[in-house]
Parts: sequence; structure tokens; C-alpha cells
Amino acid sequence: MVVISTLLSLYLLSGASAGPVARSSKQNASACDSVNQGYNCFSEISHLWGQYSPYFSVEEESASSAIPEGCHVTFAQVLSRHGARYPTASKSAKYAKVIAKIQADATAYKGNAAFLKTYNYTLGSDDLTAFGVQQMVDSGIKFYQRYESLAKEQTPFVRASGSSRVIESGQKFIQGFQNTKLNDSRALPGQLAASINVVISESANANNSLDPGTCTVFENSELGDDVVANFTDIFTPPILKRLEEDLPGVNLTAKEVVYLMDMCSFDTIAQSNPESQLSSFCNLFTHAEWEQYNYLRSLEKYYGYGAGNPLGPSRGIGFTNELIARLTRTPVHDETSTNRTLDSSPATFPLNYTLYADFTHDNGLIPIFFALGLYNGTKPLSKTQVESMEETDGFSAAWTVPFGARAYVEMMQCEAQPEPLVRVLVNDRVVPLHGCAVDKQGRCKRDDFVRGLSFARSGGNWDECFA
Ligand SMILES: *[C@@H]1O[C@H](CO)[C@@H](O)[C@H](O)[C@H]1NC(C)=O
Ligand SMILES: *[C@@H]1O[C@H](CO)[C@@H](O)[C@H](O)[C@H]1NC(C)=O
Ligand SMILES: *[C@@H]1O[C@H](CO)[C@@H](O)[C@H](O)[C@H]1NC(C)=O
Ligand SMILES: *[C@@H]1O[C@H](CO)[C@@H](O)[C@H](O)[C@H]1NC(C)=O
Ligand SMILES: *[C@@H]1O[C@H](CO)[C@@H](O)[C@H](O)[C@H]1NC(C)=O
Ligand SMILES: *[C@@H]1O[C@H](CO)[C@@H](O)[C@H](O)[C@H]1NC(C)=O
Ligand SMILES: *[C@@H]1O[C@H](CO)[C@@H](O)[C@H](O)[C@H]1NC(C)=O
Ligand SMILES: *[C@@H]1O[C@H](CO)[C@@H](O)[C@H](O)[C@H]1NC(C)=O
Ligand SMILES: *[C@@H]1O[C@H](CO)[C@@H](O)[C@H](O)[C@H]1NC(C)=O
Repeated sequence: MVVISTLLSLYLLSGASAGPVARSSKQNASACDSVNQGYNCFSEISHLWGQYSPYFSVEEESASSAIPEGCHVTFAQVLSRHGARYPTASKSAKYAKVIAKIQADATAYKGNAAFLKTYNYTLGSDDLTAFGVQQMVDSGIKFYQRYESLAKEQTPFVRASGSSRVIESGQKFIQGFQNTKLNDSRALPGQLAASINVVISESANANNSLDPGTCTVFENSELGDDVVANFTDIFTPPILKRLEEDLPGVNLTAKEVVYLMDMCSFDTIAQSNPESQLSSFCNLFTHAEWEQYNYLRSLEKYYGYGAGNPLGPSRGIGFTNELIARLTRTPVHDETSTNRTLDSSPATFPLNYTLYADFTHDNGLIPIFFALGLYNGTKPLSKTQVESMEETDGFSAAWTVPFGARAYVEMMQCEAQPEPLVRVLVNDRVVPLHGCAVDKQGRCKRDDFVRGLSFARSGGNWDECFA
């Protein structure tokens, strides 16, 4: 119970007991979304929506994302999440249900809850929103501009995991890339237009290195859900009490409180112009509560798909082995989630490209980040108390897998250094590599980096998938 009293004192210190503060509405939201910086509208809370935050650049002043002087990029791989979407169909039904329940039972609508009296739930499901489409076009523009020296002469090899929002995200990225190229006077003429080269099936038995579903023990694990349920029970009671006071007659569950928090993001990004205003759902909660929610989402990813789950990183082995193949131009060696039919053919897994783009889901990205050891400096996240970004060594759902998330794996050739160097940027943040001799710019020599990926090269603990 130490935990709960700590959380309570946090509420008192933050003044949350006095009710929500709509700080965000004071911001100047015009021109707050951009190709380079991503979504910085209402950033005090929109960057605290976990994986439901729209992409925003998390470059740190101390570690510039610029290509270091004296170096030129020889290879770039982008690994991307799809853009902002409507809630999944199952969540959409749950959100509609809690709103219908409130409208059936409430005898009054007080304070910031007043809007619920006439709120009409009309969100779609599963597909990209108009804003999500624009995010992906912008991502393609940014990728072209960053890697112009390669992009002006080549098209990327593109793969997408087989769900419609992921495929559409790849197409919109290509559109942004291609339109930027058409406008670039330095681009070589007469090149083939980029297109999605391979769609990898998401059916249950498919080997899909971008979103594996064949690790049976993992698929049956409920660890992430259990950690989420416990932390939900810790942080929602004071919120639940306040909402029930504002909505007399209504009884809510802890889960439903979280659904109402989810609605803040979904209702904002569904608008045709999410730059101009924040959903009214957002004003039901305080800044301190958004920090708790954001942490809840990080717990979900860490214990669901990351190192907190014994088989989380194993789902990222297949892609890591594909990346090694691309970096070293040698055939794929993998006996986990890759499809040998696809990966042994130069038509579906070429090794002679310098630009690669792969599209998938947040739950595809997180295991790959952990298989690459990017967050090996992160200690197991506390299941009971919010940790800061310093404490998690830069890991959070919002910083790693927001809507439109993009990780760049880049290889460069530098003066006075015969060996190629590799580094990884996650949403523009240079994430210093682990498992190899890393320099001040977060880079390792390619061969040292590959050597350090012994977890993936050896197949990790994939054999435990079928225990
Ligand atoms: C908001 O920002 C825009 C663009 O930077 C600027 O033109 C406008 O004057 C600002 N409005 C206010 C109220 O500060
Ligand atoms: C809710 O939205 C739907 C779809 O836009 C519309 O048909 C319906 O009339 C709306 N209901 C209310 C009460 O506004
Ligand atoms: C092409 O470049 C011009 C001049 O920089 C710019 O105004 C225009 O928006 C660009 N068009 C596209 C499709 O990028
Ligand atoms: C591997 O890919 C091929 C070609 O797309 C497909 O026909 C086959 O079903 C896939 N096999 C598995 C196990 O995913
Ligand atoms: C959730 O909380 C219960 C009760 O405190 C505890 O027994 C259980 O181990 C917790 N689950 C996880 C996954 O931490
Ligand atoms: C809410 O809970 C109270 C106390 O348990 C109960 O008396 C009331 O009937 C419930 N209301 C609804 C709408 O379920
Ligand atoms: C799918 O993966 C399993 C496990 O690595 C492997 O045994 C099987 O041959 C693979 N199938 C294809 C088509 O790659
Ligand atoms: C890769 O090799 C194939 C087969 O030789 C060739 O058709 C293709 O143009 C090459 N692609 C690149 C990007 O070099
Ligand atoms: C990251 O940590 C895991 C677990 O300790 C280890 O197996 C793996 O080799 C490490 N990866 C790197 C790149 O250091």
C-alpha cells in the first residue's frame, strides 16, 4: 500500500484534487505539425498518449541526428508503424458502449463532462484517418530529404505487413517520397516509380518477420494485460470518483476510465484538422493523470512485447536477421519468423539495394527494437510507480511506437575510417547501440554491431515458443 499512498501524494502535490486543468487549450496550435518535427500541437498532453500519440521528433540536443561531418550514408532502412487510425473494431465497440451507458444513466452532466450529454460517437474503425494519411506522406518526404544522396538515384525496396492500414501507409509514404523526387532537379531521370514490392501475409500460420504470430507460447501469454490491469487499478480510483461525481447516476469501471482517456487521442486525430483543436475528452483529465496513462501504455508494450516478456524480443529475431543480411549483403540465416520462400529469392528479398522501407504495427516494432538490444540499458519497468524518461533510459511507448513511428538504421562511410559505421535513430533520437564498441555519436563498426547481435543470430530463445 506504500505505492498507493505515494500516488496519492503525487495527486495532492500536482493539485489534481482541484480538478482537471485545460492547460493545453492555451497553446497556439497553428502550424504545429510539420514534416520534420511531427505533431507538436497541444504537446503537453499529446506527447503523453503512449502509442496513440502521433509521431513527434524526440531528437535530443546532446545527440544530433545530422549525418556527422566527413561521412556519407551508404545504406538506410526505415522501419515504420502505420499512421494514425481509428480505434480497432473491438475497441470502437467498447468506446461506443461506455458512451451509450453514460448517456443512459447520467442524471446530470457537470463541469468538463457537460459535452457528453450530446456527444455522438461516430468514429470509424481500423483504417487510417485523413491525418494518418498525411503523416505517412510526410514521412516519405522526410525520408527522401534525409537520404537524398541515395534517394535521388534509387528507389527503396518496400515491404508491408498484410493489413490494409499498413499497406496504405506504405503507399502514402511512397507517394511522399516520389513527389519529392519528381521535384528534385538533382534526381536521376528515367527511374522506375517506387511501389510496394512485397506484402507479407498476416494469417495465423504465416511466417511474417514484420509481425510474427507463430510463437505459440507468446501468443498465449497474458503478462502484458495483467500488468496493465494491475496498474489501472492503482491509478484510476481517484479519476473514477471524480467522473462519477460529475456524472451522477453513472457507475464506471477502472477499464472504462481508461477507455475515456483513449478517446482523447482517437477523437482528436479523427478530426479533419487535429491541429486546430483538442477533443473535449482530453479536458476530463489532469496533466498528472496523462503521465500515468502514458506510463500505463509503456508498461503494456514493455511487458507485452518487450524485454518484460520472456518471449517478446524473440518476435524481433527474424527481422533482425534480415537486417543483418541487408547490411552485409549475405543470405538470410534464420529459423524463427522469416519466410524462406520469400527471403531466398532476389525478387522478394534482394540484397543489392541501398534503401529499404518496411511497414508494420507497433507490436511488430517493439520486439524488433528489443531484439536489436536498443533498450538493453533499460531496467525492468516498475509495475507500480511512474518512471521518468531518464529512469527508463529513453524507453516509452510514445517515444518509440507512436502513430507514424519511424526508426532509421543507417550505415555510413567516414573519412579516416575504412570500416562502415552503423547507427539507429528512433523517431530522430540517436539510440546508442549496445553489444558493441559504441562511439560518442551512438555508432558501432558494422561488423562489431553484427557480432553483438548474437541473440538474433543464434535464434535466441525461439525454441521456447513451443514448450
Ligand atoms: C500563432 O502562430 C502563428 C504561426 O506561427 C502566428 O502567425 C500567429 O500570430 C500566432 N497567434 C497567436 C495568437 O499567437
Ligand atoms: C450522430 O451521427 C450520425 C452519423 O453522422 C447521424 O446520422 C446522427 O443523426 C447523429 N445523431 C445525433 C443525435 O446527432
Ligand atoms: C516543389 O518545389 C517547389 C519549390 O521549392 C515547392 O514550392 C513545391 O511545393 C514542391 N512540390 C512538391 C510536390 O514537393
Ligand atoms: C511464404 O511466402 C509464400 C510466398 O508469398 C507463400 O505462398 C507461403 O504461404 C508463405 N509461407 C509461410 C509459412 O508463411
Ligand atoms: C497483479 O497484482 C496481483 C495482486 O497484487 C499480484 O498477485 C500479481 O502478481 C500481479 N500481476 C502481475 C503480472 O504483476
Ligand atoms: C451504481 O452502483 C450503485 C451502488 O452499488 C447502485 O445502487 C446503482 O444501482 C448502480 N447504478 C447503475 C445504473 O447500475
Ligand atoms: C516458417 O518458419 C518455420 C520456423 O522457422 C520453418 O520451420 C518453416 O520452414 C518456415 N516456412 C517457410 C515457408 O519459410
Ligand atoms: C539488383 O539486381 C537486379 C538483378 O541483377 C537488378 O535487376 C536490379 O536493378 C538491381 N537493383 C539495384 C537497386 O541495384
Ligand atoms: C541485450 O540483452 C539481452 C538479454 O540480456 C541479450 O541476450 C542480448 O545479447 C543483448 N543485446 C545486445 C545487442 O547487447
